[in-house]
Amino acid sequence: RLVYILNGPNLNLLGKRQPEIYGAETLADVERACVALGAELGLSIRFLQSNHEGQIVDWIHEAREDACGIVINPAALTHTSVAVLDALNTFDGPVVEVHISQVHKREPFRHHSFVSHRADAVIVGAGTQGYGFGLRRIAVLALA
Ligand code: DQA
Repeated sequence: RLVYILNGPNLNLLGKRQPEIYGAETLADVERACVALGAELGLSIRFLQSNHEGQIVDWIHEAREDACGIVINPAALTHTSVAVLDALNTFDGPVVEVHISQVHKREPFRHHSFVSHRADAVIVGAGTQGYGFGLRRIAVLALA
């Protein structure tokens, strides 16, 4: 079983970008941890990042063909993108939304998420551990 883990704009700079907010771990570190946890849970992982909204939409369409679940950190697209929400609404399996930072403690424009209208679970402010929590939740929901 395959799970897509999708990452939106600027997350390629994780570890270098505002480490006081997002921590010192890189996205490659997060990918390694997710692949290892996936192996434990019996899930294959397709771990992807793009700075481009349309690419995220295209990957969600691909997930329709071969994925049993999606973990997504849409980054800034969380707060702006009806297109990402609409794409997720075409996907039948479980979707978990992850934010590394506690967005509700931050600027008001980060308090609304379009993606939360679709997500089956939302994990906020748990740092990069949130990806692992999301993956564990997908494992439960997808194997149910
Ligand atoms: C983020 C929170 C978003 O508000 C922000 O635009 C990001 C990262 C997080 O993981 O905390 O780029 O999704």
